[in-house]
Amino acid sequence: SELKNIIQGIPKAELHLHIEGSFEPELMFKIAQRNQITLPYKSIASLKKAYKFNNLQEFLDIYYAGAQALLHEQDFFDLTWAYLKKVHSQNVIHVELFFDPQTHTDRRVPFPIVITGIHKALEKAKSEFGISYKLIMSYLRHLSEEEAFKTLESSLPFKHIIDGVGLDSSELGNPPSKFQRVFKASAQQGYQLVAHAGEEGPSAYIWEALDLLKVVRIDHGNRCLDDDALVKRLVEEKIPLTLCPTSNVALKVIQKMEEHPVSEMLKKGIIATIHSDDPAYFGGYMNENYYETAKALHLTLDQIQQLAVNAFKASWLNADAKQKRI
Ligand code: HPA
Ligand code: ZN
Repeated sequence: SELKNIIQGIPKAELHLHIEGSFEPELMFKIAQRNQITLPYKSIASLKKAYKFNNLQEFLDIYYAGAQALLHEQDFFDLTWAYLKKVHSQNVIHVELFFDPQTHTDRRVPFPIVITGIHKALEKAKSEFGISYKLIMSYLRHLSEEEAFKTLESSLPFKHIIDGVGLDSSELGNPPSKFQRVFKASAQQGYQLVAHAGEEGPSAYIWEALDLLKVVRIDHGNRCLDDDALVKRLVEEKIPLTLCPTSNVALKVIQKMEEHPVSEMLKKGIIATIHSDDPAYFGGYMNENYYETAKALHLTLDQIQQLAVNAFKASWLNADAKQKRI
């Protein structure tokens, strides 16, 4: 369709992508087989059938189970390379991707194995596709702050290839305040800061992410619209939100795409951006997220362009590189 062609033609930046969430069932079975790991699903079809979620936690349980297949540097390379090939075909030219080291180090896969496999794929995509990238290490918020500190420590030999830290996993009951000290220590190491907030959690968690963690972007942030003073703050301080529309529908953060808050956010002057979150689980990479959102909300071409421009504005590209894209 015409809309699909327009979206394909727009150079895009993806700022909210969990690399473990790009693990397609076919690749998962292939890697599990070569690692002689038995997945808790008999077939690709039965695995795909399990992809029906009522909330964030039901998804996370399956997402962590799938990641068990990843053991060797080559596995992390293959996972990341598959994602980068896919988004290259969708005209994505810049990515800032999350990885969850604790999902792997808790299974005794060493931190260097994880990051080296991911980084080699990013470097290959940079040279072969011209895709620029940033890497964000995300702390798992269902674990303790002490464990996040251990992860920070493990990351230090790789400081030169890590751009920032994030906060993901089970939001409710794990407020940003739990990680105030490790975020401060991460900033002192030169890392930029982001956090998931206001996906399932209340707008109070977004305030905490801003005031206590001092993040420069909010991942998701849907719930900000509950609070006018917070919206004012996001607009005045130009704090971007990295929204993930198909994720929101899949995890029942919203009941249907027509209810997605992105157009209201744009109207209020928030730097709203669109991304895929965990595309292998939610059934949409970047183009599908743009398309489904544009179709359901009847976005104008200007609004679609604005979303793409916003993502470059919100990115951690330097001013020169941004200028070329805006
Ligand atoms: N929210 C929280 N944690 C996550 C997500 C998400 O959408 N995806 C992967 N880990
Ligand atoms: Zn996410």
